[in-house]
Amino acid sequence: MKQQLENILAEALLEISRALNKEDVEKLKVKYCGKKGKVTAILKQMGKLSAEERPVMGQLANEVRSKIDNEITEKIKKVKEEELKLRLKNEKIDVTMPGKRNNLGHKHPLSIVLSEIEHIFLSMGFDIVEGPEVEYDYYNFEALNIPKDHPARDTQDTFYINDNILLRTQTSPMQIRTMEKRKPPIRIISPGRVYRCDEVDATHSPVFTQIEGLVVDKGITFADLKGTLEVFVKKLYGEDSVIRFRPHHFPFTEPSAEVDVQCFNCQGKGCRICKGEGWMEILGCGMVHPKVLKNCGIDPEVYSGFALGMGLERVVMRRYNIDDLRLFYENDYRFLEQF
Ligand code: PHE
Repeated sequence: MKQQLENILAEALLEISRALNKEDVEKLKVKYCGKKGKVTAILKQMGKLSAEERPVMGQLANEVRSKIDNEITEKIKKVKEEELKLRLKNEKIDVTMPGKRNNLGHKHPLSIVLSEIEHIFLSMGFDIVEGPEVEYDYYNFEALNIPKDHPARDTQDTFYINDNILLRTQTSPMQIRTMEKRKPPIRIISPGRVYRCDEVDATHSPVFTQIEGLVVDKGITFADLKGTLEVFVKKLYGEDSVIRFRPHHFPFTEPSAEVDVQCFNCQGKGCRICKGEGWMEILGCGMVHPKVLKNCGIDPEVYSGFALGMGLERVVMRRYNIDDLRLFYENDYRFLEQF
């Protein structure tokens, strides 16, 4: 029996030393020291022994069992340590690897230039107001001195929702809405989307952006309009930019003008960018028509004012030399990335 126990011990130690992982070691524990284990089996045979032999063998068997037990505990510790080492080795983070870059979002070119324009007007004491894109016929046309049968309605291909409601074709209705709410002195700009039933091409879009300007006070003259625009254009396009006023007609201003800025590429000589003109139109403007002031309850005998309206897309196209308006709305990343 002693021999048997020694054999079991030797066999167990060998197997334990060969075990590779925790599961193997656990199995060995069952195999040798479990209820049906080899050492347990020996202990069960104790009954057959004589009274003198029993305590000697019992002690030996217990020693063998605790040796195996200890060895197994040690082995489990070792295996765990090795597993941890292996995991740490495999999971090691290489801090010298290049990082994954997150793309930073940024402003759309229309927003960049719009906020520049807003800042220029804010610095001259203007407020910014916004109004509805779905508008009453009254504000978009009637109150602006464009009655139902007026030919000017044909030039602004209107999306009608019903007889009285439409998508605004211009930001000029904000002149009326502002004058209804505020008493002079008034100095506002109003940027926003406008809609016209146009086919899409390089220079037309059924939705585009206008910026309206309105000043009403006692003693406002065309000289104030010219001075304001002069300052505005120089701040937007640079100190050496030149503008000119061309007589024009709008039903809601009198007199009216269109403003051109001299082509900064050819200085008025005519080139590809200005299509040979030497000048580029940037906005419409004029002195607020007395009828329009009256429609808003402002006495044209006491007050006068000027208004202006510019197309943002055109200004941005000129600024960045962009030749196709559709690029603003397609949101092609390769285009947007450049700003
Ligand atoms: N609303 C005019 C347009 O869309 C522009 C304009 C605004 C002209 C204000 C004069 C005064 O063409």
